[in-house]
Amino acid sequence: MKRFLLGLVSGLVLASVLRRAKLEGVTQERLDRYYERRAQNYNLTDYLYLGQFPRVEMRKRVVALSGMKAGDTVLDFACGAGANFPYIMEQIGATGKLIATDYSEHMLEAARKVVEEHGWENVELVQGDAAQMQFDTQFDVVMCTLGLAVIPGWQEAMQRGWAHLKPGGAFAIGDLSESRRWYTRPFAFLNDLIDAAIIADSSRRPWEWMQQMGSGYRREEIFHGYFYAAVVRKPLKVAVEP
Ligand SMILES: C[S@@+](CC[C@H](N)C(=O)[O-])C[C@H]1O[C@@H](n2cnc3c(N)ncnc32)[C@H](O)[C@@H]1O
Repeated sequence: MKRFLLGLVSGLVLASVLRRAKLEGVTQERLDRYYERRAQNYNLTDYLYLGQFPRVEMRKRVVALSGMKAGDTVLDFACGAGANFPYIMEQIGATGKLIATDYSEHMLEAARKVVEEHGWENVELVQGDAAQMQFDTQFDVVMCTLGLAVIPGWQEAMQRGWAHLKPGGAFAIGDLSESRRWYTRPFAFLNDLIDAAIIADSSRRPWEWMQQMGSGYRREEIFHGYFYAAVVRKPLKVAVEP
């Protein structure tokens, strides 16, 4: 009994230390160092989960939910090494335009290789903090995958992205999340462990903000709730006060 209690208390203390470390660990400096190391092989992570490839599924669902089509102008913020580009370009084609932005020069360098390999001429890569992004363009789709759990100023990034969306345009995201399914509860500490290792915070809930912003909100869980894809549309008309 004594041993059991000791084990339980140590487990709880360890879990809370881990959670705190993860919540305080997502800093721009650490992220930049991490993605400098990961840049060259980052996109291979999509194929880590043999058989199911949930990250690939998430990318495809984000693109599908956004409803992007030929000729659209798309913003992919925190684009990383360009893992979303093939799915986006397949939809918008040569008449569309993709602007992709990331904080890490190293990730953008890897993304540039993807663009060159495919010979796309309508993709523009821009370095910068998503929390401060400013473009002259208004977009049909603003999207982000695996970025909002990482970007330190993630709420500002969403607001900046939303401000750059055309009326009727789609704001579409996909990311990690803490699974709330009954059978994943006993493994909740795994979320914290993985987050701490990859410098992310999957306890953020950007979809709660999206739900209040526009119409057509939809959220789908992927891979037992550890990933999701969500979309909301910007209203066509701003209501005029009487
Ligand atoms: C987990 S990766 C996701 C990359 C890509 N969106 C994907 O789905 O593969 C997170 C990306 O966010 C970028 N990032 C971190 N902080 C950022 C910031 N403040 N503004 C823009 N991008 C940022 C990192 O450099 C990294 O490329």
